[in-house]
Amino acid sequence: MSTLSPPVRAYRASLLHFHADPAFAENAYVWHEDGLLLVADGRIAAAGDYARLSPTLADGVEIVDYRGKIICPGFIDTHVHFPQTDMIASPAPGLLPWLNSYTFPTERQFGDPAHGAEVAEFFLDQLMRSGTTTAMVYCTVHKQSVDAFFSASQARGLRMVAGKVLMDRNCPDFLADTAEGGVRDSAELIERWHKRGRAQYAITPRFAPTSSEAQLALTGELARAYPDTYIQTHVAENCDECNWVKALFPASRSYLDVYDHYGLLRPRAMYGHCIWLDDDDFARMAETRAAAAVCPTSNLFLGSGLFDFERADARGVLLSLASDVGAGTSFCMLQTMNEAYKVARMKGSYLPALRMFYLATLGAARAMQLEGTIGNFAIGAEADFIVLDPAATPLLARRTNECDNLEELLFALALLGDDRAIAATYSGGRVQWQAPAP
Ligand code: GUN
Ligand code: ZN
Repeated sequence: MSTLSPPVRAYRASLLHFHADPAFAENAYVWHEDGLLLVADGRIAAAGDYARLSPTLADGVEIVDYRGKIICPGFIDTHVHFPQTDMIASPAPGLLPWLNSYTFPTERQFGDPAHGAEVAEFFLDQLMRSGTTTAMVYCTVHKQSVDAFFSASQARGLRMVAGKVLMDRNCPDFLADTAEGGVRDSAELIERWHKRGRAQYAITPRFAPTSSEAQLALTGELARAYPDTYIQTHVAENCDECNWVKALFPASRSYLDVYDHYGLLRPRAMYGHCIWLDDDDFARMAETRAAAAVCPTSNLFLGSGLFDFERADARGVLLSLASDVGAGTSFCMLQTMNEAYKVARMKGSYLPALRMFYLATLGAARAMQLEGTIGNFAIGAEADFIVLDPAATPLLARRTNECDNLEELLFALALLGDDRAIAATYSGGRVQWQAPAP
């Protein structure tokens, strides 16, 4: 038997990860009650039973003891706005008033690179303490907001996807770009950041109402010129917004069809919300491998609507969960699961905790075409993982002590947990967050 020597690092805990979607496959997850995770050169070297793997370790390899806790892949948040960090929990009666009253004035400040740099550090601190190791991030219309974000994420060695918002109409002048200028700036940012270290670029038209047809057409061309970039935008979030799109694009069959017309449905395109889509839209998403970012805390907060998991699943749409901060009310994917569960119940369907943990890890990685890189403990995957503490609070400790099986344990973590349940966060094998000792 070969032995693994330093600088291998070893972590002992219960291990949970997925190799399939539990909604569609039996035995979709892997659970090692007394497990060992081995990391070398920032990648997963092995994940398995402690009893099997510990004899493979050379003398001198220190084992970090997280017994009593659960190690799983880091959470992936597929839709979040870093410039909206400071306006989380801002009251407004619905999406469009909220954008006008809070969002646009807040985003204006990101013309100042020093402001962007300061907010980016705080935002990344929030992600790390919430257990989110990868996110798809909206910056602002300002090029310098993207530089600020990626400079900060690169310094920490994080795998992050982000892009400059494209927006040339129906917004305040102080935030408007132009069809050509916005796309030229995006191309420059792609050349500067895409695939540099662990950064990947997302072409980011804010949503159909704030891009002219000329801008959407050029955005489609840009997406074709750089086919391995991401695309991210909002679709069918709110009824007033949907009516507005109908008036602005009378020739389109549906809101989603506006994006389809400009070639913006493709693998690595992430569509936020997807609440008011019909079956044909969901079928088209499945066909093109465009993915949905489901944002339950945001949709409840703004009163946007309830995502229909069952209908999306019936068409085989790639699904993921997302915070959508600042309209979302928590950075933590555990809180996001809590509200996703209740949204599913309100639609008459049921989301098991195992499914929600899948959606926040491997499901999101698949939606982003990053399976094998992040989202599970396949050998060679990047070592982005978190340590969950089922006894993080007195109530969690009391409830999880009563759990009879894994589903109950994960359910209690999802419903009662928040960032206090994240004992540690690792990215690229390096510790990024460690909860203070109790
Ligand atoms: N639609 C267009 N812009 C936004 C935004 O910033 N947040 C949300 N939730 N929806 C949007
Ligand atoms: Zn959003």
